[in-house]
Amino acid sequence: MGKRVYESLPDLKEARKRSRKPSLIEENRPVPEKVARFAEGRTYLVKTFGCQANVRDEEILSGYLEKAGFAKAKSEEEANLVIINTCAVRENAEEKVYGEIGKFKKNHKADKDFILGVCGCMMQEEGVAKKLMASYPYINLIFGTHNLPDILDLLDEHLSRGKDIVNVKSFAGDVVENLPSTRLDAHRAYVNITYGCDKFCTYCIVPYTRGRERSRPLKDILKECQALYEEGYQEVTLLGQNVNSYGKDLGEGIDFATCLEEVAKIGIPRVRFMTSHPWDFNERMIEVIAKYPNIMKCIHLPVQSGSSEILRLMGRRYSRESYLALVKKIRERIPGVALTTDIIVGFPNESEEQFEETVSLCEEVRYDSAFTFLYSPRKGTPAAKMVDNVTSEEKHERYNRLLAVTEKTTEEASARLLGQSVPVLVDGPSKKDPHILSGYTEGMKLVNFPGPSYLAGEIVPVLIKENHVHFLIGALAEDPLLLKAKSLQGAMKKDPILKEYLSLSKQIEEDEGLKELRKKIESAQRGMMAASSDDEDYQAKKKEYLSLKGEYESHPLVKNAESLHDEAESLLQEIAGALS
Ligand code: 5AD
Ligand code: SF4
Repeated sequence: MGKRVYESLPDLKEARKRSRKPSLIEENRPVPEKVARFAEGRTYLVKTFGCQANVRDEEILSGYLEKAGFAKAKSEEEANLVIINTCAVRENAEEKVYGEIGKFKKNHKADKDFILGVCGCMMQEEGVAKKLMASYPYINLIFGTHNLPDILDLLDEHLSRGKDIVNVKSFAGDVVENLPSTRLDAHRAYVNITYGCDKFCTYCIVPYTRGRERSRPLKDILKECQALYEEGYQEVTLLGQNVNSYGKDLGEGIDFATCLEEVAKIGIPRVRFMTSHPWDFNERMIEVIAKYPNIMKCIHLPVQSGSSEILRLMGRRYSRESYLALVKKIRERIPGVALTTDIIVGFPNESEEQFEETVSLCEEVRYDSAFTFLYSPRKGTPAAKMVDNVTSEEKHERYNRLLAVTEKTTEEASARLLGQSVPVLVDGPSKKDPHILSGYTEGMKLVNFPGPSYLAGEIVPVLIKENHVHFLIGALAEDPLLLKAKSLQGAMKKDPILKEYLSLSKQIEEDEGLKELRKKIESAQRGMMAASSDDEDYQAKKKEYLSLKGEYESHPLVKNAESLHDEAESLLQEIAGALS
């Protein structure tokens, strides 16, 4: 038997099928013994390319690896296990991956037990796994998006059999709950609400790499969001390739508007969602976004093209006119909403006039920011088979022309904030200068401003002073210490232990029987103080005092308060530490 085992390889025909119903699986597998033994004293690193869905996958992979006992490595050199989590949406994303894999050849030389894994969307493409195994013989594990939760079993197999394993499954996909997770950010969190995509836009590989559109049960989404709220997360972004489709497959009459509303009701200060498809962005969604102050008034609404004919060829299911009508409706109902978009330049046979329609649409909508991409043919998609009559030079020239327009509207959107005090969620101190904080506005503008690091994770008012197009410079609009004090006061009022302790204290204070007992204890104490300690009377007073005290302490209200006392005290100590 050779060193390499191909257990399964991707098949785009299978990946296209939508007939199989997804299973709902509860993760409860134990860590394989061999993996736990190997993980002891070893470190891991996951290197992620691509979108937020991949970032969330990194958190889940990290969750599995930490559950097995691996610790996070501080550097690439130190890591004993590296997993490269890939993206397939455009060719340039793939090129970066090849360079990244090459970097880890030296780790094998330094550590004979070093393991290199490659996973993610790119592995779901036909031919990639074989090509990688042929070009980079030091890859030990290849797996895809569907078997990410099998990571520990795959590692077990690699360790047990001493073979390099390729296992990429092509199918519609399942929904796995109770996934372990190590979050990368302490204040902002991603929560998957749907997986996969059924839209099959003609240029896009995602429906093949991530499978059928399938929704997580609402109760599991709400449970995850509630836990994040209780942990003090300030922002949650609901994730899906097309969040608007949420619930359609569940057949329970639940839609995205309901999901968004229920999440907003939990009370997380900032709720976001992405991505929305303009085709099924409905009235109820607009209403819910408008109604809840904690749903950020910022909508990512990819247009892809301003030409109805190109949109038809892209399979986008809306026209230039219907998109503009939707934008108008959203702006009427949600004044001041920030709109962002994705645009593809150079779709096969796009004419100059059709490109100009994209330019004019951008000038009309005036996006707060736009992500512009050069069309990249993806093998297996319908658009990749189209004969293209537009030269690469022409595409690049158009790309630059469009960029000039979108940069201008981004600058205008940023300029509107000048002189205003806006709430900013502080990510933390900047990497370059620890005295400078950075964070995001409601409309996802990056703001840098001087301030103390203890404001990380707080939502603070910042006066916007300078516009640098892709970031703003500002100054705190209130004293930082007072801001922190206000936030701590809010947190204390919300904490269930402190809340219960304060309520019990109040009841103890007001209870007539306990009031009477307190008086008697005080009087006995005074009696003890007045008598001399070798006096017989003193002994009698002391006995009375101890008996009253015992009676007081065995009262249910006092006993309950006492049982919470230590926890309340350590919480206050923790809060005091927040400023240090
Ligand atoms: N070429 C260029 N851009 C693409 N996108 C998706 N597929 C391609 C492709 N083949 C862009 C779309 C999408 C974003 C995530 O990536 O604009 O909204
Ligand atoms: Fe790709 Fe279209 Fe699905 Fe977005 S909606 S992931 S562009 S197929």
